[in-house]
Amino acid sequence: MLHFEYATPLPDAWRALTRCRGMGCPLRVYETVDSTNEAAAQWARAGAPAGALVVADHQTAGRGRHRRVWQADPGKNLLFSLVLRPALPLDRISVLPLLAGLAAAQAIDALTTPLSVALKWPNDLYIAGKKTGGILLESSQSGGSAHPPDFIVLGLGINVNQEQFSPELADTATSLLLETGRFIARDALLAEVLYVFETMYASLGDEAATNRLLASYEARMHQRGERVEIRFPGGMGTRQGVLVGVSPLGALRLRTTEGEVLFHAGDVSTRAIKG
Ligand code: BTN
Repeated sequence: MLHFEYATPLPDAWRALTRCRGMGCPLRVYETVDSTNEAAAQWARAGAPAGALVVADHQTAGRGRHRRVWQADPGKNLLFSLVLRPALPLDRISVLPLLAGLAAAQAIDALTTPLSVALKWPNDLYIAGKKTGGILLESSQSGGSAHPPDFIVLGLGINVNQEQFSPELADTATSLLLETGRFIARDALLAEVLYVFETMYASLGDEAATNRLLASYEARMHQRGERVEIRFPGGMGTRQGVLVGVSPLGALRLRTTEGEVLFHAGDVSTRAIKG
């Protein structure tokens, strides 16, 4: 059910809240929706402008990476999707998923000091070794890979005020409430994520600025310097090595006995939407 919808221009109160110059305008808020990514993709196909935002209190078919289900109790978490229309082709903006994770991590830190969010490559948000958020990027591409995509949907789920998780997630998932012991205002967190992300997004394509952001990303990297095992999708084997960091294109750098190997986030974290 569509709860309310703001067309551009937004009411002053919301504009002040988001401090947005583009991200979050226009806005659709749903009480319940299948998936904010799906709603945003439909809206994008119907002409939603860059920066359009879909927020929901509850998803009945929230989706995660690798075709997993994204579970979140109604009314407690942050579930939203942004429509992006970058002018650059996807291979020039392969760092986008990482920057989105970095923006979310910095925004959470700002509201939950002294917590510090770690980033599990490419863009899972971790606190104290447990997952507290994730990002799903989906793109629609009718031209070739050298062309900008028709649109990208950037979906973000953050476990904010959830008090408990289902038995299968209890050991691996956490929320900001569980980690801080206090309720976090979801609208304030949303505003902060949009604000931080907007600045990062504007620097895409600027090599020096992107490199600085990737250095910040690496400083937060979960398991950096540790020995890890990389699994290929579809049971296609594993690779072991020391997690070194990320390349200028956002690929994971793994030091193995045969030398350094790169894994590309784009190959594993994006899913095509039929246009
Ligand atoms: C992952 O870690 O697997 C990514 C999870 C992404 C979940 C968010 S919740 C809002 C948006 N709508 C969806 O259906 N998925 C993303």
